[in-house]
Amino acid sequence: MSTDAKHKLSEEELLAQTTVLTIAGHDTTANTLSWVLYELAQHPIAQTKLRDEVKAFRVSHGDRDIHAGDFDVSFPYTTATLRFLPIVIHLLRKASNDDTIPLSKPLKTRHGKEISSISVKRGQVVLTSLWGYNRLEEIWGNDPDIWRPERFLTKGESTKHSVGVYGNLASFSSGVHSCIGWRFAIIELHSILITLIERFEFLPAPDVTVLPVPAGTVMPMVKGEEDKGPQVPITIRSL
Ligand code: HEM
Repeated sequence: MSTDAKHKLSEEELLAQTTVLTIAGHDTTANTLSWVLYELAQHPIAQTKLRDEVKAFRVSHGDRDIHAGDFDVSFPYTTATLRFLPIVIHLLRKASNDDTIPLSKPLKTRHGKEISSISVKRGQVVLTSLWGYNRLEEIWGNDPDIWRPERFLTKGESTKHSVGVYGNLASFSSGVHSCIGWRFAIIELHSILITLIERFEFLPAPDVTVLPVPAGTVMPMVKGEEDKGPQVPITIRSL
């Protein structure tokens, strides 16, 4: 409000920005965190590894607050737990011209013809699957459906490719329209996760199956209780 008029956002711009940040910024990060906490509740050993990382930092840095710059350096396991589930499942792109999309390896069409590229016509909508890429066996190994943070700590197939803006994952998309908030989201997720894991233990809730439901973002819903909307039933114990 105090800046000069030509640098100020108009009321309309301010409202538009607020809406984008609330939806693109909040729902995405909140749902990612819900999934991380859900997976941690099923994986007690991963929780211990996370806590050990925080303890090691406390021992070596004393009472100093943890800063954003520390995340990449001192918290590799925490970082690894944040990857995997892309809460934006698909992205649509419209071809602005007739073009050809090259394929990384040949494909067999329904009619048995082998192709090494796909032709698109101007105006044609192409659906890209972020979920599909993040679970490709040839990139992530033979268990891409398993939540296994260690996968991201070893150099191998997963580090040969460079698709997205972060961690060779498609979660934040790629190219000129990739997520502008990815760095902020990663810092936010680190901060919340470190704060929670030091104070609480997460345990699975008995007898529930949580399903990933594509609903704008991929929301966790309890099987048979989809009408109640997103839920992540986990038991939380104070440490
Ligand atoms: C885990 C958290 C997040 C994920 C997985 C995520 C994912 C994505 C993806 C996949 C896109 C590309 C959409 C497209 O190409 O059509 C995108 C765009 C965008 N994201 Fe995020 N996002 C996250 C957090 C945030 C945060 C925290 C902010 C803002 C503070 C943000 C702001 C935006 C904006 C404004 C765009 C549109 C960029 C453009 O079209 O030029 N996102 N995000």
